[in-house]
Amino acid sequence: PAAVIVAIDGPSGTGKSSTSKAVAAQLGLSYLDTGAQYRAITWWMVHNGIDLTDPSAIAAVAGKPEIVSGTDPAAPTITVDGTDVAGPIRTTDVTSKVSAVSAVPEVRTRITELQRAIARSAEKGIVVEGRDIGTTVLPDADLKIFLTASPEARAARRSGELKGADVKATQEALIKRDAADSSRKTSPLAKADDAVEVDTTELTLQQVIECVVTLVGEKR
Ligand code: C5P
Repeated sequence: PAAVIVAIDGPSGTGKSSTSKAVAAQLGLSYLDTGAQYRAITWWMVHNGIDLTDPSAIAAVAGKPEIVSGTDPAAPTITVDGTDVAGPIRTTDVTSKVSAVSAVPEVRTRITELQRAIARSAEKGIVVEGRDIGTTVLPDADLKIFLTASPEARAARRSGELKGADVKATQEALIKRDAADSSRKTSPLAKADDAVEVDTTELTLQQVIECVVTLVGEKR
């Protein structure tokens, strides 16, 4: 079959990454975590002492770091200027700063170009997860999914991932980040008109995966 492009968007804690990786692995497709790219450029800015309260300072260096994503769903990788940053991009420090960086238009243009090039070169197709994949990055995707879940479910899942982190603090940080991502001017978190919305609150990960795999099958 022809290469199939699947866009999976939604706020954090809805199971986007777990779902996207599993669907890509099951269907033999590539996988791209676009949040990891925004985290990687944020990590580089922190590492280089860029003033993140100044959007023009961020814009001025947006083109500098070389970000490379490995797209095997069984072992996704991310490097910045050759350094493996898979671990450091998940710290609470980077997580709390990424929305300020991802809101800068020059950053988005740069990262969006990277994403489109990766999607184009995926021979068998790709599952791309993020916030604006269906609306901006790949508006012609074959299938667009928008994952949602209640704030309580999202915070509980995230705290579980962070091994016992305070659920209430996690929920507050999540809500703050989603509000920033949804209200920014350039390419905010949004459901595309033609996206299928899946509320995962009452579903197991396995059920969400099966649902998406079925939807991809219907498009092929
Ligand atoms: O998905 P993840 O939580 O790793 O995303 C980290 C951040 O990257 C988001 O909070 C958002 O600011 C940014 N992001 C984005 N557009 C995307 C994917 C992520 O702005 N397509």
